[in-house]
Amino acid sequence: MPKGRFVTFEGGEGAGKSTQVERLRQKLEERGILVVATREPGGSPRAERIRESLLSGEAKRFGPFAEALMFSAARMDHLDQTIRPALERGAFVLCDRFADSTRAYQGVLGEIDEGLVEELERTVVGQTRPDLTFILDVPADVGLERASDRRGGEGADRFEAEDRSFHDRLRQAFLAIAEREPERCAVINAGADVNTVANEIWQIVEQRLLGPSADAMVGEAHGG
Ligand code: TYD
Repeated sequence: MPKGRFVTFEGGEGAGKSTQVERLRQKLEERGILVVATREPGGSPRAERIRESLLSGEAKRFGPFAEALMFSAARMDHLDQTIRPALERGAFVLCDRFADSTRAYQGVLGEIDEGLVEELERTVVGQTRPDLTFILDVPADVGLERASDRRGGEGADRFEAEDRSFHDRLRQAFLAIAEREPERCAVINAGADVNTVANEIWQIVEQRLLGPSADAMVGEAHGG
């Protein structure tokens, strides 16, 4: 059975993840590759319902650990209903945020014990770990300004509303993940213009997932 590829996009607020998911989708589709683009929290009908209470701030009063459990509950359904079936069909799954967001937002910023977060991730994600993770890196003030422009007149959501130092620490938390797992992660300067960022992402996808050595890996994994 063909096996797809799982690519996640992570970073702070206003890093431009959703734009880049869309750009990569277009590039892959031009190549005739099946793509499923999705997001977290959400990505399946039940997970989208959990998203509402998480982003409204309703879940905040239960504390970061309960929030981590809710993000995880949403993730389990998303994996079962959307991600794993797409990978089994051989699709490239492009996901706007995934388990690294729980590590950074709830784990590091929420000060949950690291071992507990790791255990939760192992249980929820299992073998379905991303093949490649883009960490879109921008200074906190640039990201927050972009996020506020995007909202227009509407109020900030639960996480955007946190203070500047929260967003600085968040940025460091994502960079630390990339440093710990360089073979999975690629840090991208997301302060550059949209086309530059899209080109950099495409080059890395070609090298790591579509190049000759990537083909050899797929062949080996499936005995071909
Ligand atoms: P969203 O509107 O999708 O924002 P963004 O464009 O920044 O991705 O909101 C998702 C919010 O949820 C975002 O502030 C990050 C947060 N989040 C967590 O705290 N933990 C998680 O595990 C995930 C997936 C998201």
